[in-house]
Amino acid sequence: MTPRHLHRLGATAIALVLSATAVHAEEIAEYMDFFEPLPYLPPIPADNTMTPEKIELGKMLFFEPRISASGVISCATCHNPALGWSDRIPRAVGHGGQVGERNTPTVLNSGFLGAQFWDGREPDLEGQALGPIQADIEMNMTLAEAIERLKEFDIYHQHFAAAFPEDPDPINQGNVALAIAAFERTLNTPNSPLDRFLAGDVQAMTSQQVEGMKLFVDAGCVACHNGPAFTDSNYHRFELPGSRDEGRFLVTGDENDRFAFRTPTLRNVAVTYPYFNNGSVDNLRDAIQLMGQQMLGQDFAEDELASLVAFMDALTGEMPHIEIPALP
Ligand code: HEC
Ligand code: HEC
Repeated sequence: MTPRHLHRLGATAIALVLSATAVHAEEIAEYMDFFEPLPYLPPIPADNTMTPEKIELGKMLFFEPRISASGVISCATCHNPALGWSDRIPRAVGHGGQVGERNTPTVLNSGFLGAQFWDGREPDLEGQALGPIQADIEMNMTLAEAIERLKEFDIYHQHFAAAFPEDPDPINQGNVALAIAAFERTLNTPNSPLDRFLAGDVQAMTSQQVEGMKLFVDAGCVACHNGPAFTDSNYHRFELPGSRDEGRFLVTGDENDRFAFRTPTLRNVAVTYPYFNNGSVDNLRDAIQLMGQQMLGQDFAEDELASLVAFMDALTGEMPHIEIPALP
């Protein structure tokens, strides 16, 4: 064959491929409508602007162990940047080595959640931030003591003044919460394979991941795991073998909320094992199998489970680049 023939053959082949992908692309586009790319920033509350000074202070406080009674536990002890901003153990270990009731969720993308904690007992990050400092099984510190500790360091006087220039006495608990929350809103993971796929890069996901995406929609996972963070921020009954945690019921006292938990984010779920509110399941296959059985009354075949696991892998985004702060 001459080069000209070859050229013609090539063109025919490309035309064939193109018409095949056109049909394929249309079908895929329908599925893509169910998903939202993760923005670079979550919604910012009007009363907590994100200035560089405030974010820097929030980062210092996040890594600051001296606001715990023992002086050794910081937020980063359990929300460890090297471990997907979580801890990779079933249930959190806090003050005096006590083991809590619940698994540590990641703080990645937590600014996108409509409610904080497994039971949604805090509406936002500002409300959440002071809880762990005071919880006896976490950092076990009174806020007054934590503030006194911070006041011992000149560098905190400087950083609080820079972050809250209007405040004559800026080292206080309200500002600790504002600064930590502002820092947490920077911990987002855009550009996952799914996000790139949604932006038009059809090569960003493997064909198995695309199959998983379709099944995620067809099976109904997307009814609860939706929006940019893959959660409806709502509560659903889920009973884990051996667990007596009553979940949302402990907050509302409403019988309908017994054993109900807030839908967690699925962003980065491949790196935030183990799973569920008590961390009792250590791999995604088993976690998804249980979801199918309890939430959808469906037993997936092995190849379906494998596609769904592959799709979960496509939700791992770019980890935030942060410099660990040098503390006083
Ligand atoms: C001893 C381990 C531990 C420490 C220390 C700790 N956390 Fe947590 N964190 C947890 C656990 C466990 C939960 C879930 C608790 C629950 O739902 O009842 C949680 C939940 C959260 C959530 C909610 C995320 C979600 O998906 O609902 C945020 C945000 C958070 N922590 C931030 C912080 C900050 C900020 C600090 C420091 C001031 C901190 N944590 C200190 C273990 C810890
Ligand atoms: C009716 C709502 C609902 C449906 C449908 C649903 N989920 Fe969930 N999902 C939840 C809730 C609520 C939890 C938290 C359960 C707990 O730990 O108490 C959860 C937890 C998970 C977890 C563990 C996350 C973690 O960090 O611990 C994975 C993975 C998951 N779901 C995947 C799926 C998949 C895949 C499907 C479809 C096969 C699905 N879910 C269907 C509500 C739902």
